[in-house]
Amino acid sequence: MAQEDNKVVNYYDSIANQYDESRFNNSYGRFIDYEERRILDKLINRPDHAKCLEMACGTGRLTCYATHALDASHEMMKHAMARHPDVDFCQASAAETGFENETFHTIYSFHLMMHLEPTLIKDIIAEAHRILKPGGKFIFDIPSRQRRQLLHHKQESWHGGTHLSKSEVLEMSSELFDLGRTCGIMMLPIHKLPTSLRKSMRKLDFALANSPIKQFSSYIVYELIKR
Ligand SMILES: C[S@@+](CC[C@H](N)C(=O)[O-])C[C@H]1O[C@@H](n2cnc3c(N)ncnc32)[C@H](O)[C@@H]1O
Repeated sequence: MAQEDNKVVNYYDSIANQYDESRFNNSYGRFIDYEERRILDKLINRPDHAKCLEMACGTGRLTCYATHALDASHEMMKHAMARHPDVDFCQASAAETGFENETFHTIYSFHLMMHLEPTLIKDIIAEAHRILKPGGKFIFDIPSRQRRQLLHHKQESWHGGTHLSKSEVLEMSSELFDLGRTCGIMMLPIHKLPTSLRKSMRKLDFALANSPIKQFSSYIVYELIKR
């Protein structure tokens, strides 16, 4: 595994026991979790026989959509394995999974690419292509470059430091994949609003994050279709 990526995995090994509580048991985390599930419900249409891999499953927050899951951190994956006894797990890098060619109908991954160097993201896209069946989907999220430029976002550490524009994602993937749908996540700071307003504003946020200005959402979810 690349040295850069070792740093990421060591970090997640060290925080595995607090990850769910610190990231997702607050209003921001609950909102993100809700929106990601809404998008996966829309994009993953899994008939019983279909094989679906989650890359970088972490503690298993979103593993309920998968038949197979991997993560490079054993400490994170331990939690996922306890939560999803029916899923096949393996500890591996998303760039070198060890699965046979054309194994999966669908692959998805959340909150992974934002930690990685573009060269590694490109390797993961190539690996997803190798292990997907023709016509299979690779679904992943990445912070939006347009959003960060608009807000003059200054990144102070590697954590979540990578952001890409749609054209950069296409440049990395277009030799192997066609672009399917894209979905935005979080246009407005819903989690900071009074609780009584959140439900109605959530609908507005979802509409904006899926409108022609979706590239200004915090995260963009890409659905790539293997040629
Ligand atoms: C922010 S967590 C996301 C976990 C889960 N997907 C979620 O959304 O809750 C990032 C995960 O990526 C894993 N990871 C980092 N680099 C990886 C790689 N090259 N291959 C597989 N997993 C990796 C880390 O171990 C960690 O579990």
